[in-house]
Amino acid sequence: MKGTCVIAWLFSSLGWWRLAQPETDTSQCQRAEHPVTSYKEIGPWLREFRAKNAVDFSQLTFDPGQKELVVGARNYLFRLQLEDLSLIQAVEWECDEATKKACYSKGKSKEECQNYIRVLLVSGDWLFTCGTNAFTPVCTNRTLSNLTEIHDQISGMARCPYSPQHNSTALLTAGGELYAATAMDFPGRDPAIYRSLGILPPLRTAQYNSKWLNEPNFVSSYDIGNFTYFFFRENAVEHDCGKTVFSRAARVCKNDIGGRFLLEDTWTTFMKARLNCSRPGEVPFYYNELQSTFFLAELDLIYGIFTTNVNSIAASAVCVFNLSAISQAFNGPFKYQENSRSAWLPYPNPNPNFQCGTVDQGLYMNLTERNLQDAQKFILMHEVVQPVTSVPSFMEDSSRFFHMVVDVVQGRDTLIHVIYLATGRSMWYRLRNE
Ligand SMILES: *[C@@H]1O[C@H](CO)[C@@H](O)[C@H](O)[C@H]1NC(C)=O
Ligand SMILES: *[C@@H]1O[C@H](CO)[C@@H](O)[C@H](O)[C@H]1NC(C)=O
Ligand SMILES: *[C@@H]1O[C@H](CO)[C@@H](O)[C@H](O)[C@H]1NC(C)=O
Ligand SMILES: *[C@@H]1O[C@H](CO)[C@@H](O)[C@H](O)[C@H]1NC(C)=O
Ligand SMILES: *[C@@H]1O[C@H](CO)[C@@H](O)[C@H](O)[C@H]1NC(C)=O
Ligand SMILES: *[C@@H]1O[C@H](CO)[C@@H](O)[C@H](O)[C@H]1NC(C)=O
Ligand SMILES: *[C@@H]1O[C@H](CO)[C@@H](O)[C@H](O)[C@H]1NC(C)=O
Repeated sequence: MKGTCVIAWLFSSLGWWRLAQPETDTSQCQRAEHPVTSYKEIGPWLREFRAKNAVDFSQLTFDPGQKELVVGARNYLFRLQLEDLSLIQAVEWECDEATKKACYSKGKSKEECQNYIRVLLVSGDWLFTCGTNAFTPVCTNRTLSNLTEIHDQISGMARCPYSPQHNSTALLTAGGELYAATAMDFPGRDPAIYRSLGILPPLRTAQYNSKWLNEPNFVSSYDIGNFTYFFFRENAVEHDCGKTVFSRAARVCKNDIGGRFLLEDTWTTFMKARLNCSRPGEVPFYYNELQSTFFLAELDLIYGIFTTNVNSIAASAVCVFNLSAISQAFNGPFKYQENSRSAWLPYPNPNPNFQCGTVDQGLYMNLTERNLQDAQKFILMHEVVQPVTSVPSFMEDSSRFFHMVVDVVQGRDTLIHVIYLATGRSMWYRLRNE
Protein backbone atom coordinates (compact mmCIF):
# COMPACT_ATOMS: atom_id res chain seq x y z
CA MET A 1 0.00 0.00 0.00
CA LYS A 2 1.11 3.47 -0.89
CA GLY A 3 2.70 5.73 1.65
CA THR A 4 4.52 5.44 4.92
CA CYS A 5 3.59 6.65 8.34
CA VAL A 6 5.95 9.58 8.53
CA ILE A 7 6.06 12.89 6.84
CA ALA A 8 9.54 14.25 6.73
CA TRP A 9 10.37 17.76 5.83
CA LEU A 10 13.81 18.73 4.71
CA PHE A 11 14.98 22.31 4.85
CA SER A 12 15.73 23.28 1.29
CA SER A 13 18.54 25.46 2.58
CA LEU A 14 20.43 22.23 3.11
CA GLY A 15 21.69 22.58 -0.42
CA TRP A 16 22.09 19.72 -2.82
CA TRP A 17 21.38 16.25 -1.77
CA ARG A 18 21.48 13.91 -4.68
CA LEU A 19 22.19 15.71 -7.87
CA ALA A 20 23.35 19.11 -8.87
CA GLN A 21 23.00 20.08 -12.46
CA PRO A 22 24.46 23.41 -13.49
CA GLU A 23 22.21 24.86 -16.11
CA THR A 24 24.95 25.85 -18.49
CA ASP A 25 27.60 23.18 -18.50
CA THR A 26 25.86 19.82 -18.28
CA SER A 27 28.82 17.78 -19.56
CA GLN A 28 30.86 19.08 -16.66
CA CYS A 29 28.16 17.95 -14.31
CA GLN A 30 27.85 14.49 -15.79
CA ARG A 31 31.55 13.94 -15.16
CA ALA A 32 31.39 14.97 -11.56
CA GLU A 33 30.40 12.62 -8.80
CA HIS A 34 27.01 13.57 -7.51
CA PRO A 35 27.17 14.27 -3.81
CA VAL A 36 24.96 11.86 -1.89
CA THR A 37 23.88 12.45 1.68
CA SER A 38 22.35 9.74 3.78
CA TYR A 39 19.06 10.06 5.57
CA LYS A 40 20.90 9.76 8.87
CA GLU A 41 23.25 12.60 8.05
CA ILE A 42 20.43 14.98 7.28
CA GLY A 43 18.68 13.95 10.50
CA PRO A 44 19.30 17.28 12.29
CA TRP A 45 17.53 19.11 9.46
CA LEU A 46 14.52 16.82 9.33
CA ARG A 47 11.19 17.39 10.98
CA GLU A 48 8.79 14.52 11.36
CA PHE A 49 5.10 14.25 11.91
CA ARG A 50 3.37 11.11 13.08
CA ALA A 51 -0.15 10.53 14.29
CA LYS A 52 -1.56 7.54 16.09
CA ASN A 53 -3.52 5.24 13.74
CA ALA A 54 -2.76 7.38 10.71
CA VAL A 55 -1.02 5.66 7.80
CA ASP A 56 -0.75 6.18 4.05
CA PHE A 57 0.18 9.84 3.95
CA SER A 58 -0.35 9.99 0.23
CA GLN A 59 -1.46 13.54 -0.51
CA LEU A 60 0.11 16.84 0.42
CA THR A 61 -0.77 20.36 -0.50
CA PHE A 62 -0.37 23.89 0.84
CA ASP A 63 -2.67 26.72 1.80
CA PRO A 64 -2.42 29.69 -0.58
CA GLY A 65 -0.14 31.59 1.82
CA GLN A 66 2.13 28.52 2.07
CA LYS A 67 2.06 28.72 5.84
CA GLU A 68 0.32 25.41 6.33
CA LEU A 69 0.69 21.93 4.99
CA VAL A 70 -2.52 20.03 4.30
CA VAL A 71 -2.15 16.27 4.46
CA GLY A 72 -4.39 13.43 3.32
CA ALA A 73 -3.84 10.11 5.07
CA ARG A 74 -5.99 7.02 5.43
CA ASN A 75 -9.18 8.12 7.23
CA TYR A 76 -7.59 11.44 8.23
CA LEU A 77 -7.01 14.98 7.10
CA PHE A 78 -4.40 17.09 8.85
CA ARG A 79 -3.33 20.70 8.85
CA LEU A 80 0.26 21.20 9.97
CA GLN A 81 2.35 24.24 10.67
CA LEU A 82 4.85 24.45 7.81
CA GLU A 83 7.63 25.75 10.09
CA ASP A 84 7.89 22.71 12.32
CA LEU A 85 5.15 20.30 11.22
CA SER A 86 3.25 20.84 14.44
CA LEU A 87 -0.39 19.89 14.35
CA ILE A 88 -3.00 22.58 13.80
CA GLN A 89 -6.01 20.39 13.11
CA ALA A 90 -6.71 16.69 12.74
CA VAL A 91 -9.99 15.56 11.21
CA GLU A 92 -11.14 11.99 11.08
CA TRP A 93 -12.83 11.05 7.82
CA GLU A 94 -13.91 7.46 7.98
CA CYS A 95 -16.38 5.33 6.08
CA ASP A 96 -19.61 4.48 7.82
CA GLU A 97 -20.35 0.91 8.87
CA ALA A 98 -22.89 0.25 6.12
CA THR A 99 -20.42 1.30 3.43
CA LYS A 100 -17.75 -0.92 4.97
CA LYS A 101 -20.14 -3.89 5.12
CA ALA A 102 -21.07 -3.43 1.48
CA CYS A 103 -17.35 -3.32 0.66
CA TYR A 104 -16.63 -6.59 2.51
CA SER A 105 -19.56 -8.23 0.77
CA LYS A 106 -17.88 -7.42 -2.55
CA GLY A 107 -14.91 -9.48 -1.45
CA LYS A 108 -12.63 -6.65 -0.41
CA SER A 109 -10.39 -6.80 2.63
CA LYS A 110 -10.46 -4.80 5.83
CA GLU A 111 -7.36 -2.96 4.61
CA GLU A 112 -9.02 -1.97 1.36
CA CYS A 113 -12.38 -1.03 2.83
CA GLN A 114 -11.18 2.25 4.32
CA ASN A 115 -11.10 5.84 3.21
CA TYR A 116 -7.86 6.53 1.35
CA ILE A 117 -7.55 10.20 0.44
CA ARG A 118 -6.61 10.46 -3.23
CA VAL A 119 -7.64 14.00 -4.20
CA LEU A 120 -6.56 17.01 -2.15
CA LEU A 121 -6.88 20.34 -3.93
CA VAL A 122 -6.83 23.83 -2.54
CA SER A 123 -8.75 26.52 -4.35
CA GLY A 124 -8.89 29.85 -2.58
CA ASP A 125 -10.31 29.37 0.89
CA TRP A 126 -11.64 25.90 0.08
CA LEU A 127 -10.28 22.39 0.16
CA PHE A 128 -11.72 19.95 -2.35
CA THR A 129 -10.86 16.44 -1.29
CA CYS A 130 -11.93 12.94 -2.27
CA GLY A 131 -11.40 9.53 -0.71
CA THR A 132 -11.92 5.95 -1.86
CA ASN A 133 -14.44 5.50 0.99
CA ALA A 134 -14.45 1.68 0.93
CA PHE A 135 -14.81 1.46 -2.86
CA THR A 136 -17.59 4.08 -2.85
CA PRO A 137 -15.57 7.20 -3.67
CA VAL A 138 -16.84 10.46 -2.25
CA CYS A 139 -15.71 14.09 -2.46
CA THR A 140 -16.18 16.94 -0.01
CA ASN A 141 -15.69 20.66 -0.27
CA ARG A 142 -14.41 22.04 3.04
CA THR A 143 -13.39 25.30 4.61
CA LEU A 144 -9.61 25.36 4.49
CA SER A 145 -9.29 27.11 7.84
CA ASN A 146 -11.57 24.57 9.52
CA LEU A 147 -11.60 21.19 7.81
CA THR A 148 -14.54 19.88 9.83
CA GLU A 149 -16.75 22.40 8.10
CA ILE A 150 -18.14 20.53 5.08
CA HIS A 151 -20.06 22.63 2.57
CA ASP A 152 -20.80 20.05 0.04
CA GLN A 153 -20.50 16.33 -0.44
CA ILE A 154 -20.71 14.80 -3.91
CA SER A 155 -20.03 11.44 -5.52
CA GLY A 156 -16.36 10.70 -6.08
CA MET A 157 -17.07 8.58 -9.13
CA ALA A 158 -14.93 9.68 -12.08
CA ARG A 159 -13.05 11.96 -9.71
CA CYS A 160 -11.35 9.54 -7.37
CA PRO A 161 -10.43 5.87 -7.80
CA TYR A 162 -12.46 3.13 -6.09
CA SER A 163 -9.40 1.15 -5.14
CA PRO A 164 -6.53 2.52 -3.04
CA GLN A 165 -4.18 0.72 -5.44
CA HIS A 166 -5.23 2.67 -8.50
CA ASN A 167 -3.03 5.58 -9.49
CA SER A 168 -4.85 8.78 -10.28
CA THR A 169 -4.33 12.52 -10.59
CA ALA A 170 -6.61 15.55 -10.47
CA LEU A 171 -6.50 19.32 -10.68
CA LEU A 172 -8.87 22.26 -10.33
CA THR A 173 -8.66 25.14 -12.80
CA ALA A 174 -9.17 28.78 -11.93
CA GLY A 175 -12.54 28.46 -13.67
CA GLY A 176 -13.60 25.81 -11.18
CA GLU A 177 -13.42 22.77 -13.47
CA LEU A 178 -12.10 19.56 -12.01
CA TYR A 179 -9.91 17.45 -14.29
CA ALA A 180 -9.42 13.95 -12.99
CA ALA A 181 -7.57 11.05 -14.54
CA THR A 182 -8.67 7.91 -12.77
CA ALA A 183 -10.39 4.55 -13.03
CA MET A 184 -14.12 5.25 -13.30
CA ASP A 185 -15.47 1.93 -12.08
CA PHE A 186 -15.19 -0.63 -9.30
CA PRO A 187 -13.00 -3.19 -11.13
CA GLY A 188 -10.83 -0.46 -12.63
CA ARG A 189 -11.40 -1.43 -16.25
CA ASP A 190 -12.68 1.94 -17.34
CA PRO A 191 -9.94 4.53 -17.07
CA ALA A 192 -10.66 8.07 -18.18
CA ILE A 193 -9.58 11.65 -18.19
CA TYR A 194 -12.74 13.33 -17.07
CA ARG A 195 -13.80 16.94 -16.62
CA SER A 196 -16.62 17.91 -14.29
CA LEU A 197 -17.89 20.73 -12.06
CA GLY A 198 -17.45 24.31 -13.26
CA ILE A 199 -19.52 25.68 -16.12
CA LEU A 200 -18.17 23.72 -19.10
CA PRO A 201 -19.89 20.47 -20.10
CA PRO A 202 -18.50 17.25 -18.60
CA LEU A 203 -16.23 15.44 -21.06
CA ARG A 204 -14.22 12.23 -21.01
CA THR A 205 -11.85 10.18 -23.09
CA ALA A 206 -13.57 7.60 -25.34
CA GLN A 207 -14.71 4.62 -23.30
CA TYR A 208 -13.17 1.14 -23.73
CA ASN A 209 -10.96 2.35 -26.55
CA SER A 210 -7.39 1.17 -26.06
CA LYS A 211 -6.11 3.69 -28.59
CA TRP A 212 -7.07 6.48 -26.22
CA LEU A 213 -5.95 4.89 -22.96
CA ASN A 214 -4.62 1.37 -22.52
CA GLU A 215 -4.45 0.26 -18.87
CA PRO A 216 -2.92 3.57 -17.83
CA ASN A 217 -1.27 4.44 -14.54
CA PHE A 218 -1.83 8.16 -14.16
CA VAL A 219 1.03 10.11 -12.63
CA SER A 220 0.39 13.85 -12.73
CA SER A 221 -1.55 16.69 -14.34
CA TYR A 222 -0.86 20.39 -14.91
CA ASP A 223 -2.89 23.38 -16.00
CA ILE A 224 -0.64 25.17 -18.50
CA GLY A 225 -1.84 27.96 -20.80
CA ASN A 226 -4.77 26.84 -22.94
CA PHE A 227 -4.24 23.18 -22.10
CA THR A 228 -4.44 20.64 -19.34
CA TYR A 229 -1.54 18.20 -19.53
CA PHE A 230 -1.52 14.66 -18.19
CA PHE A 231 1.48 12.43 -17.61
CA PHE A 232 1.10 8.68 -17.31
CA ARG A 233 2.39 5.30 -18.37
CA GLU A 234 0.30 2.74 -20.23
CA ASN A 235 0.51 -0.39 -22.34
CA ALA A 236 1.92 0.66 -25.68
CA VAL A 237 -0.80 0.11 -28.25
CA GLU A 238 1.64 0.84 -31.10
CA HIS A 239 4.08 -1.83 -29.95
CA ASP A 240 2.96 -5.11 -31.58
CA CYS A 241 5.47 -7.62 -30.23
CA GLY A 242 4.68 -8.42 -26.61
CA LYS A 243 3.39 -6.23 -23.84
CA THR A 244 5.42 -3.08 -23.26
CA VAL A 245 4.72 -0.02 -21.18
CA PHE A 246 5.48 3.44 -22.58
CA SER A 247 5.36 6.80 -20.84
CA ARG A 248 3.17 9.54 -22.25
CA ALA A 249 2.39 13.21 -22.19
CA ALA A 250 -1.20 13.96 -23.21
CA ARG A 251 -3.19 17.15 -23.40
CA VAL A 252 -6.65 18.55 -23.99
CA CYS A 253 -7.83 22.08 -24.62
CA LYS A 254 -9.48 23.58 -21.57
CA ASN A 255 -12.20 25.11 -23.72
CA ASP A 256 -13.07 21.84 -25.48
CA ILE A 257 -16.83 21.35 -25.38
CA GLY A 258 -16.99 17.94 -27.04
CA GLY A 259 -18.38 16.86 -30.39
CA ARG A 260 -21.80 16.76 -31.94
CA PHE A 261 -23.11 13.34 -33.06
CA LEU A 262 -19.49 12.26 -33.31
CA LEU A 263 -17.50 12.36 -30.06
CA GLU A 264 -20.48 13.51 -28.07
CA ASP A 265 -19.50 14.12 -24.41
CA THR A 266 -15.95 13.24 -25.46
CA TRP A 267 -12.79 15.28 -25.91
CA THR A 268 -12.22 16.51 -29.43
CA THR A 269 -8.71 17.75 -28.62
CA PHE A 270 -7.14 14.75 -26.87
CA MET A 271 -3.65 13.90 -28.13
CA LYS A 272 -0.76 12.00 -26.62
CA ALA A 273 2.91 11.47 -27.33
CA ARG A 274 5.55 9.06 -26.07
CA LEU A 275 8.31 10.32 -23.79
CA ASN A 276 11.79 8.89 -24.35
CA CYS A 277 14.03 8.43 -21.35
CA SER A 278 16.89 6.10 -22.15
CA ARG A 279 20.58 5.48 -21.84
CA PRO A 280 22.01 6.02 -25.32
CA GLY A 281 24.03 3.27 -26.95
CA GLU A 282 24.02 1.00 -29.98
CA VAL A 283 20.91 -0.47 -28.42
CA PRO A 284 19.47 2.21 -26.14
CA PHE A 285 18.46 1.05 -22.69
CA TYR A 286 14.93 2.30 -22.01
CA TYR A 287 13.56 3.49 -18.70
CA ASN A 288 10.00 3.10 -19.91
CA GLU A 289 7.92 3.64 -16.82
CA LEU A 290 7.17 7.13 -15.57
CA GLN A 291 6.73 7.22 -11.78
CA SER A 292 6.67 10.88 -10.82
CA THR A 293 7.04 14.31 -12.38
CA PHE A 294 7.91 17.78 -11.28
CA PHE A 295 6.98 20.86 -13.31
CA LEU A 296 9.51 23.66 -13.05
CA ALA A 297 7.19 26.39 -14.27
CA GLU A 298 9.85 29.15 -14.31
CA LEU A 299 11.72 27.32 -17.07
CA ASP A 300 8.87 25.32 -18.61
CA LEU A 301 10.64 22.08 -17.81
CA ILE A 302 9.08 18.78 -16.84
CA TYR A 303 11.32 16.56 -14.75
CA GLY A 304 10.36 12.88 -14.71
CA ILE A 305 11.54 9.83 -12.81
CA PHE A 306 11.49 6.79 -15.05
CA THR A 307 12.13 3.22 -14.01
CA THR A 308 12.39 -0.18 -15.59
CA ASN A 309 9.47 -2.61 -15.37
CA VAL A 310 8.92 -4.32 -12.00
CA ASN A 311 9.64 -7.67 -13.64
CA SER A 312 13.11 -6.67 -14.83
CA ILE A 313 16.20 -5.46 -12.99
CA ALA A 314 15.64 -2.32 -10.96
CA ALA A 315 16.99 0.92 -12.43
CA SER A 316 15.89 4.55 -12.35
CA ALA A 317 16.68 7.66 -14.33
CA VAL A 318 15.67 11.30 -14.30
CA CYS A 319 14.97 12.88 -17.68
CA VAL A 320 14.05 16.51 -18.28
CA PHE A 321 11.62 17.57 -21.00
CA ASN A 322 11.16 21.00 -22.45
CA LEU A 323 7.49 21.92 -22.69
CA SER A 324 8.18 23.39 -26.12
CA ALA A 325 9.51 19.99 -27.29
CA ILE A 326 6.26 18.42 -26.10
CA SER A 327 4.20 21.06 -27.96
CA GLN A 328 6.32 20.48 -31.04
CA ALA A 329 5.50 16.76 -31.02
CA PHE A 330 1.80 17.69 -30.86
CA ASN A 331 2.16 19.83 -33.96
CA GLY A 332 3.89 17.06 -35.90
CA PRO A 333 2.51 14.02 -37.72
CA PHE A 334 0.26 11.41 -36.11
CA LYS A 335 0.83 7.70 -35.84
CA TYR A 336 -2.15 5.98 -37.38
CA GLN A 337 -3.33 2.42 -37.79
CA GLU A 338 -5.95 1.83 -40.47
CA ASN A 339 -7.30 -1.33 -38.88
CA SER A 340 -6.18 -3.73 -36.18
CA ARG A 341 -4.15 -5.82 -38.64
CA SER A 342 -2.35 -3.02 -40.43
CA ALA A 343 0.89 -1.37 -39.39
CA TRP A 344 1.16 1.93 -37.54
CA LEU A 345 2.28 4.57 -40.03
CA PRO A 346 3.03 8.26 -39.84
CA TYR A 347 0.19 10.41 -41.10
CA PRO A 348 0.59 14.14 -41.83
CA ASN A 349 -1.05 16.38 -39.25
CA PRO A 350 -4.17 17.84 -40.91
CA ASN A 351 -3.95 20.82 -38.57
CA PRO A 352 -0.28 21.47 -37.79
CA ASN A 353 -0.95 24.96 -36.45
CA PHE A 354 -3.58 23.70 -34.10
CA GLN A 355 -5.01 26.23 -31.65
CA CYS A 356 -7.54 25.75 -28.91
CA GLY A 357 -10.09 28.04 -30.52
CA THR A 358 -12.04 30.79 -28.85
CA VAL A 359 -15.34 30.76 -27.07
CA ASP A 360 -18.06 32.25 -29.26
CA GLN A 361 -20.70 33.79 -27.02
CA GLY A 362 -22.79 30.77 -26.20
CA LEU A 363 -22.19 29.27 -29.64
CA TYR A 364 -21.36 25.63 -29.27
CA MET A 365 -19.82 25.49 -32.71
CA ASN A 366 -16.22 25.47 -33.82
CA LEU A 367 -15.07 25.97 -30.31
CA THR A 368 -12.20 23.73 -31.15
CA GLU A 369 -10.74 24.00 -34.57
CA ARG A 370 -10.42 20.32 -35.13
CA ASN A 371 -12.39 18.25 -37.55
CA LEU A 372 -14.35 15.66 -35.57
CA GLN A 373 -13.46 12.80 -37.87
CA ASP A 374 -9.78 13.62 -37.48
CA ALA A 375 -10.20 14.01 -33.75
CA GLN A 376 -11.61 10.51 -33.53
CA LYS A 377 -8.99 9.01 -35.81
CA PHE A 378 -5.79 10.70 -34.68
CA ILE A 379 -4.80 10.32 -31.06
CA LEU A 380 -1.16 9.32 -30.94
CA MET A 381 1.67 11.49 -32.21
CA HIS A 382 4.29 9.95 -34.45
CA GLU A 383 7.20 11.83 -32.97
CA VAL A 384 8.63 10.77 -29.67
CA VAL A 385 9.42 13.59 -27.25
CA GLN A 386 13.16 13.61 -26.59
CA PRO A 387 14.60 14.95 -23.35
CA VAL A 388 16.70 18.12 -23.12
CA THR A 389 19.89 16.05 -22.90
CA SER A 390 20.29 12.68 -24.65
CA VAL A 391 21.92 11.25 -21.52
CA PRO A 392 19.52 11.27 -18.55
CA SER A 393 20.31 13.84 -15.87
CA PHE A 394 20.60 11.07 -13.33
CA MET A 395 20.77 7.28 -13.49
CA GLU A 396 21.02 4.70 -10.76
CA ASP A 397 20.94 0.93 -11.00
CA SER A 398 19.29 -1.31 -8.41
CA SER A 399 16.98 1.38 -7.08
CA ARG A 400 13.48 2.49 -7.88
CA PHE A 401 12.69 6.08 -7.10
CA PHE A 402 9.09 7.12 -6.75
CA HIS A 403 9.07 10.77 -5.83
CA MET A 404 10.94 13.87 -6.75
CA VAL A 405 11.06 17.60 -6.26
CA VAL A 406 13.37 20.06 -7.95
CA ASP A 407 14.67 23.29 -6.54
CA VAL A 408 16.75 25.90 -8.30
CA VAL A 409 19.39 27.53 -6.14
CA GLN A 410 21.91 30.19 -6.98
CA GLY A 411 25.41 28.75 -7.04
CA ARG A 412 28.58 30.83 -7.15
CA ASP A 413 28.30 31.53 -10.84
CA THR A 414 25.44 29.42 -12.08
CA LEU A 415 21.97 28.28 -11.20
CA ILE A 416 21.97 24.80 -9.74
CA HIS A 417 19.03 22.46 -10.16
CA VAL A 418 18.80 20.38 -7.03
CA ILE A 419 16.83 17.18 -7.41
CA TYR A 420 15.48 15.47 -4.32
CA LEU A 421 14.62 11.84 -4.93
CA ALA A 422 12.86 9.38 -2.66
CA THR A 423 12.61 5.63 -2.96
CA GLY A 424 9.63 5.27 -0.64
CA ARG A 425 6.10 5.88 -1.73
CA SER A 426 5.89 8.89 0.55
CA MET A 427 5.53 12.32 -0.98
CA TRP A 428 8.06 15.08 -1.25
CA TYR A 429 7.23 18.58 -2.20
CA ARG A 430 9.32 21.56 -3.02
CA LEU A 431 8.97 24.53 -0.72
CA ARG A 432 9.71 28.00 -1.90
CA ASN A 433 10.91 30.28 0.81
CA GLU A 434 10.17 33.49 -0.99
C1 LIG B 1 -16.55 24.82 -2.70
O1 LIG B 1 -17.50 25.68 -2.12
C2 LIG B 1 -17.30 27.05 -2.39
C3 LIG B 1 -18.33 27.85 -1.61
O2 LIG B 1 -19.61 27.40 -1.90
C4 LIG B 1 -17.39 27.29 -3.88
O3 LIG B 1 -17.11 28.65 -4.15
C5 LIG B 1 -16.38 26.42 -4.59
O4 LIG B 1 -16.51 26.54 -5.99
C6 LIG B 1 -16.57 24.96 -4.21
N1 LIG B 1 -15.51 24.18 -4.81
C7 LIG B 1 -15.74 23.08 -5.52
C8 LIG B 1 -14.56 22.42 -6.11
O5 LIG B 1 -16.85 22.62 -5.68
C1 LIG C 1 -15.14 24.20 12.86
O1 LIG C 1 -16.36 23.82 12.28
C2 LIG C 1 -17.14 22.99 13.10
C3 LIG C 1 -18.36 22.53 12.29
O2 LIG C 1 -18.98 23.60 11.65
C4 LIG C 1 -17.53 23.78 14.37
O3 LIG C 1 -18.30 22.95 15.21
C5 LIG C 1 -16.27 24.21 15.07
O4 LIG C 1 -16.59 25.03 16.18
C6 LIG C 1 -15.35 24.97 14.14
N1 LIG C 1 -14.07 25.19 14.79
C7 LIG C 1 -13.52 26.39 14.84
C8 LIG C 1 -12.19 26.45 15.54
O5 LIG C 1 -14.01 27.38 14.37
C1 LIG D 1 0.46 2.35 -9.04
O1 LIG D 1 1.81 2.78 -9.10
C2 LIG D 1 2.67 2.07 -8.25
C3 LIG D 1 4.03 2.71 -8.34
O2 LIG D 1 4.48 2.75 -9.64
C4 LIG D 1 2.69 0.60 -8.61
O3 LIG D 1 3.51 -0.11 -7.71
C5 LIG D 1 1.27 0.05 -8.57
O4 LIG D 1 1.26 -1.28 -9.04
C6 LIG D 1 0.35 0.89 -9.44
N1 LIG D 1 -1.03 0.43 -9.31
C7 LIG D 1 -1.63 -0.30 -10.23
C8 LIG D 1 -3.03 -0.74 -9.92
O5 LIG D 1 -1.11 -0.61 -11.29
C1 LIG E 1 15.47 7.59 -27.46
O1 LIG E 1 16.69 8.23 -27.15
C2 LIG E 1 17.84 7.46 -27.45
C3 LIG E 1 19.04 8.20 -26.89
O2 LIG E 1 19.14 9.48 -27.40
C4 LIG E 1 17.90 7.24 -28.94
O3 LIG E 1 19.03 6.45 -29.27
C5 LIG E 1 16.62 6.51 -29.38
O4 LIG E 1 16.60 6.38 -30.79
C6 LIG E 1 15.39 7.27 -28.92
N1 LIG E 1 14.22 6.43 -29.16
C7 LIG E 1 13.09 6.89 -29.68
C8 LIG E 1 11.99 5.90 -29.85
O5 LIG E 1 12.95 8.05 -30.01
C1 LIG F 1 13.29 24.95 -24.18
O1 LIG F 1 12.89 25.30 -25.48
C2 LIG F 1 12.90 26.69 -25.73
C3 LIG F 1 12.31 26.91 -27.11
O2 LIG F 1 12.83 26.03 -28.04
C4 LIG F 1 14.33 27.21 -25.62
O3 LIG F 1 14.35 28.60 -25.81
C5 LIG F 1 14.86 26.88 -24.23
O4 LIG F 1 16.22 27.25 -24.14
C6 LIG F 1 14.74 25.40 -23.94
N1 LIG F 1 15.15 25.16 -22.57
C7 LIG F 1 16.10 24.28 -22.22
C8 LIG F 1 16.44 24.17 -20.78
O5 LIG F 1 16.64 23.56 -23.04
C1 LIG G 1 -4.77 30.35 -26.38
O1 LIG G 1 -5.66 30.25 -27.47
C2 LIG G 1 -6.01 31.49 -28.02
C3 LIG G 1 -7.08 31.27 -29.07
O2 LIG G 1 -6.70 30.30 -29.99
C4 LIG G 1 -4.78 32.16 -28.61
O3 LIG G 1 -5.11 33.40 -29.16
C5 LIG G 1 -3.73 32.32 -27.51
O4 LIG G 1 -2.54 32.81 -28.05
C6 LIG G 1 -3.47 31.00 -26.82
N1 LIG G 1 -2.65 31.22 -25.64
C7 LIG G 1 -1.49 30.62 -25.47
C8 LIG G 1 -0.78 30.92 -24.20
O5 LIG G 1 -1.04 29.84 -26.27
C1 LIG H 1 -16.57 25.84 -38.57
O1 LIG H 1 -15.40 25.19 -39.07
C2 LIG H 1 -15.52 24.74 -40.39
C3 LIG H 1 -14.29 23.95 -40.74
O2 LIG H 1 -13.17 24.38 -40.03
C4 LIG H 1 -15.75 25.95 -41.32
O3 LIG H 1 -15.90 25.51 -42.65
C5 LIG H 1 -17.00 26.68 -40.88
O4 LIG H 1 -17.17 27.85 -41.66
C6 LIG H 1 -16.91 27.05 -39.42
N1 LIG H 1 -18.20 27.58 -38.96
C7 LIG H 1 -18.30 28.67 -38.18
C8 LIG H 1 -19.66 29.07 -37.80
O5 LIG H 1 -17.32 29.30 -37.82
